[in-house]
Amino acid sequence: MDEPQTLTLIRPDDWHLHLRDGAALAHTVAWSAAQFARAIVMPNLKPPVVDTAQALAYRARIVAALPPGSGFEPLMTLYLTDATPPGEIARARDSGAVHGVKLYPAGATTNSDSGVTALERVYPVLEAMQGAGMPLLVHGEVTDPEVDVFDREAVFIERHLEPIRRAFPELRIVLEHITTADAAAWVRAQHGRDAQGVPLQGATITAHHLLYSRNALFAGGLRPHYYCLPVLKRARHRAALLDAATSGDPRFFLGTDSAPHARAAKEAACGCAGCLTAPHALELYAQAFAERDALHRLEGFASCFGADFYRLPRNTARVTLRRQPQRVPVTLPYVDGEVVVPLDAGAELPWRVLPAA
Ligand code: DOR
Ligand code: ZN
Repeated sequence: MDEPQTLTLIRPDDWHLHLRDGAALAHTVAWSAAQFARAIVMPNLKPPVVDTAQALAYRARIVAALPPGSGFEPLMTLYLTDATPPGEIARARDSGAVHGVKLYPAGATTNSDSGVTALERVYPVLEAMQGAGMPLLVHGEVTDPEVDVFDREAVFIERHLEPIRRAFPELRIVLEHITTADAAAWVRAQHGRDAQGVPLQGATITAHHLLYSRNALFAGGLRPHYYCLPVLKRARHRAALLDAATSGDPRFFLGTDSAPHARAAKEAACGCAGCLTAPHALELYAQAFAERDALHRLEGFASCFGADFYRLPRNTARVTLRRQPQRVPVTLPYVDGEVVVPLDAGAELPWRVLPAA
């Protein structure tokens, strides 16, 4: 009832984003630059971004697509493969442009075919990352077809993440887009800190996993625009994610995992995984935090804890949200005359981001 009508925050950053490439950049970069100061850009292009030279070239394509006057800063990542040379880590760090290395278990999700087939194979790379202070960004799902799709995150933690953490106690790890109470509990149980007192363990949480349980996938019919990986889970897991995000615990921070696919690729017999949230991301997060009367906790989650984890300065610019309904467009323009369908297309959102003064 006594919810504030406006909310001014330090300008947020998105610590997990898919911008795609080529003609898509004209759209994706503008969506994120309108709301966020910086973003950790995922490397799962076709072919993937596997070395520093490719990351720098991709960065230049993103910067070339920035709207005039935008100060949006892409923070690049490398895609870990069985063949990544440990020596690549020093090159990545010394570039100043690469801020993490992404682990996709082979076959876990979109464009993950070049991912890691057996974790022991990349232990020398993880050793180099631990030494260089380079964060490991983890898509935490097993690919074992025997494991139920709703259990893949919890099983990954037990089978793979625990051993990585034990073998590399000083490695900076982000468990990406967590979806379960198990993942939130595991993150909370990691107490390691670096010499500056910054946690060695982080986790990103998407807006869609805060707002929806798996019921959204089947509400009156099959809803492909709510399909992402890791898939939405049952209500008690959503509640655990809301607990984590609104707790003020600096190990949990914002990462949209906004992942556009053209409408035809989503509304298909074998539809792609990914929810497009970037154009309204902050509004969606505000809605989730308001559900818990926790808007006073949004700034830490959206604008401070991720920057601290990545050892980057917090932003100085501000952004203002107003409690003023807006309707999400039914579609947005995309590449080659195609359209994309944003999350909650056609629905009314209670909050809106005001244009920068
Ligand atoms: O839903 C998803 N979409 N999850 C991922 O991990 C990848 C992403 C994509 O690139 O489309
Ligand atoms: Zn992702």
